[in-house]
Amino acid sequence: LFAGETTFLKGVVAMAGLPPADRLEVCFAGRSNVGKSSLINALTGHKALARASNTPGRTQEINYFNLGQESHYLVDLPGYGFAKAPVAVVEKWQRLLKSYLSGRPTLRRAFVLIDARHGIKEVDDEILTLLDTSAVPFQVVLTKSDKVKAGELQKVLDQVRGKLQRHPAAFPELVVTSSEKGGGIPTLRSIIANLE
Ligand code: GTP
Ligand code: MG
Repeated sequence: LFAGETTFLKGVVAMAGLPPADRLEVCFAGRSNVGKSSLINALTGHKALARASNTPGRTQEINYFNLGQESHYLVDLPGYGFAKAPVAVVEKWQRLLKSYLSGRPTLRRAFVLIDARHGIKEVDDEILTLLDTSAVPFQVVLTKSDKVKAGELQKVLDQVRGKLQRHPAAFPELVVTSSEKGGGIPTLRSIIANLE
């Protein structure tokens, strides 16, 4: 699935602009700057397919990528939480994000990215609750694991596992990744490849 070229399809700014719901899709959600776009680049073996940057609020549209022989969509989402962008703009994309997360029938799994240094924050919990309510199966992916020591990581893993017990839509298995060093990337690829 990840052997072929992944290509950018389109950036969507309103629900009406979503491509036809005709194939399996997975999305990457998480706080601004958590590493969503970087993770898509690492998964697909590209340096800059999805635009990543140090400025929170970089991704402002729902970006669709064609994966494999156009059998899957990968979806890069705008972040939630703090963003360096005008309030009205942020509110618009937050509404779109929530509509997307609760109203996309072909969304097979939402990967919710959590910074391995910080664990689950209140804004994350709100999104997890939205996914529970909409019955969208989700899986937590810890990002930037290259920035934490083993002991610290263990504490965050415990915190996340504890919190997930209250979320019926959560997969218990956590994926620990580093887009920078490549950790966890093969695991995540095979999780996506095994979805049906
Ligand atoms: P928004 O689009 O603004 O919501 O951000 P995003 O979640 O797409 O984050 P993005 O991929 O743009 O990455 C944010 C910053 O974190 C960039 O400076 C990345 O280089 C850095 N980053 C992302 N993943 C990793 C990682 O695994 N390790 C390290 N050390 N840095 C990372
Ligand atoms: Mg982004």
